[in-house]
Amino acid sequence: MNYRHSYHAGSFTDVVKHVILTALITSISRKDTPYCYIDTHAGTGYYDLFSEFAKKTKEYEGGIEKVIRHENPPPLIRRYLDCVHKINNELTGSRFASLRYYPGSPMIARYLARPHDRIIACELQPQEYQALKSAFAGDKQVAIHHTDGFLGLKAFLPPRERRGLVLIDPPYENPDEFSRIAHSLPVALKRWETGIYAIWYPIKEQAQVKRFYNTLKENIHHPVFAIELTTYPDLPNHLNGCGIVVINPPWQFDESVTEILPWLWKALTINDQGSYHAYMLK
Ligand SMILES: C[S@@+](CC[C@H](N)C(=O)[O-])C[C@H]1O[C@@H](n2cnc3c(N)ncnc32)[C@H](O)[C@@H]1O
Repeated sequence: MNYRHSYHAGSFTDVVKHVILTALITSISRKDTPYCYIDTHAGTGYYDLFSEFAKKTKEYEGGIEKVIRHENPPPLIRRYLDCVHKINNELTGSRFASLRYYPGSPMIARYLARPHDRIIACELQPQEYQALKSAFAGDKQVAIHHTDGFLGLKAFLPPRERRGLVLIDPPYENPDEFSRIAHSLPVALKRWETGIYAIWYPIKEQAQVKRFYNTLKENIHHPVFAIELTTYPDLPNHLNGCGIVVINPPWQFDESVTEILPWLWKALTINDQGSYHAYMLK
């Protein structure tokens, strides 16, 4: 495991993932009953954009920095940006802090959670796990586990709330990651049929994405909604964009996504390259 998310924190693909995460949590929070959020590949909780890792790639310049500067964000994007401001305010102790820290998926979920909601986060890499544990030390709403996220899926499903969301966000270091996901989902769905599952994936070549969709269509008998955003044309062997498939999308989730995608793409695109799509796969 060589992957360190600190190199990519706040990148355009992080922004897309975290905006969609905000939209999903906002949708499931419409009902008062508690939900459980499960993060199978949680990372460290938050990232310092002044660190050696982040400074080396400066990926945040093409992501969060652009979105913060772009005018007239829609309400859901403002909700996501509030999380970014919150981590900066908390860690610097100033209400007017400028961008230095970036919240990861479990931190965003924590900021959006209500007092009766619960968060379970899994992380396998030992140092990242330690950092994640300290980020949430003493927080009774968050349980951190040093475990393989796919094993976590088996161990923690179904949650006692019987309502909620799983985020699956692996590093895609191994070529078989797409297939591991597609094959672990039917098992997870068997344990928790009504859960919402959001799976992030890189868009490097269209053929790989097509194969992933086809495997999902063959193996899953639930509604699947796909969201794609690219900032480059179809360049070979290049991270042109990313996508998120949502299994069992919440009611009217498609409408919220359709409202924010044009703004998000405009904020992130490089010279109007790439595009965005959101549609039911099945
Ligand atoms: C893309 S990063 C996660 C970023 C995080 N979800 C966020 O949005 O802020 C993937 C994380 O998965 C961890 N990881 C790698 N293999 C894993 C596994 N089998 N189970 C759990 N975590 C794993 C990596 O150490 C890394 O921190």
